[in-house]
Amino acid sequence: MTEELKPNQITFDITDRCQMRCVTCSKWKTVAGDVLSKELTTQEWKKVLDGLHEWLGTDFWFCFSGGEPFLRPDIFEISEYAASLGINVASMTNGFSIEHYLEKIIDSPIKSLNISLNSIKDPKIHDTSRGREGSHQKIINAINRFNELRATTGKELGINLSTIVFPENLDELVPLAEFAKANYLGGIMFQIMDDKESFHGYNVQRACPTGTYKMPDELKKEYMNMANHACEVFDKLAEMKKEGYPIFNSYEQLEAIKMFLKNPDDILKSIDCRVGETNFAIDPYGDVRLCFNMAPVGNIRENSPKEIWENNLSKACRKATSKCKMYCRLLNCNFKGDFLNKKEEDKCPFRCFFKKLFKH
Ligand SMILES: C[S@@+](CC[C@H](N)C(=O)[O-])C[C@H]1O[C@@H](n2cnc3c(N)ncnc32)[C@H](O)[C@@H]1O
Ligand code: SF4
Ligand code: SF4
Repeated sequence: MTEELKPNQITFDITDRCQMRCVTCSKWKTVAGDVLSKELTTQEWKKVLDGLHEWLGTDFWFCFSGGEPFLRPDIFEISEYAASLGINVASMTNGFSIEHYLEKIIDSPIKSLNISLNSIKDPKIHDTSRGREGSHQKIINAINRFNELRATTGKELGINLSTIVFPENLDELVPLAEFAKANYLGGIMFQIMDDKESFHGYNVQRACPTGTYKMPDELKKEYMNMANHACEVFDKLAEMKKEGYPIFNSYEQLEAIKMFLKNPDDILKSIDCRVGETNFAIDPYGDVRLCFNMAPVGNIRENSPKEIWENNLSKACRKATSKCKMYCRLLNCNFKGDFLNKKEEDKCPFRCFFKKLFKH
């Protein structure tokens, strides 16, 4: 049965390196000198693409992430190669340095660019969360310039926003959705801030104790304190989605976030995590994970993607997900990974997860 499963969300975390100083993530602590010689080379990434294409064809969502993927200048060459195989290319970015690549991006096969932005009315909220002053302005400048380039060249680049939700930016979420619509962006995806222990550089080989994980009391308190106001905001976002605002989260996920904030533990009983059946993430050193918090299930330098997907470690990982006590099942990778402007019903491939919850 599991042998017939195939992943539909492939991520290339092409570097752990990052120029930001986010308070929610510690990937930026990666030291370039420690990792540069260990990262997969351009040719190695191309070989991975060959393996994926041979096995899966083009029927999967493919995204560069990291670290900051644009710190690898060969992202363009790897994208060209993916496109030559017929694979649609998306990338995440913190938007901090893309001013140097705007024209290159719009000319590249990257069809979808997901920019992380945590506030719009008050730039300081974004800058503080990202640990670098001026980062908000750089993103606004980049979006304005992309819009000019899209208008003058007629080139199609989907620009999307990805926003972490935390207590300080609750009143920014509605304005961010308005901004997305007013600026002709493809859409915005909200994800609740997760334990920052989950977001670390993969050069630090660390697996979280997913079966025995206990959320820090402080974090739980933070969620519960923001619950009332956050629920009002998420209700408003659901209304806006109905009115046609480009909000990528499914209604089910918006509801699940509300339930989680009121009582985080409820989510463990109600929502299964299926990343083991859908996700295939390759880190900068070739290690493959189905769940980003669990130990690698193989290395792409040693085995093909298909061999890794079907090996015993992958099978064990799928079993372990059913006993997992972590809350990142609420993140977007467990709901939908689609920024490619597909039809609404395609955006949430896992609606069936919620049968017991929402009975649809
Ligand atoms: C790890 S980053 C990598 C890509 C790129 N550096 C960026 O920031 O967009 C991927 C996404 O994770 C989000 N993220 C970081 N820390 C998080 C946390 N503790 N909880 C939830 N999402 C988080 C980022 O905002 C970003 O949208
Ligand atoms: S969230 Fe992105 S920008 Fe921030 S430190 Fe992590 S990798 Fe860098
Ligand atoms: S909830 Fe899912 S993604 Fe998070 S640690 Fe558990 S199995 Fe992994």
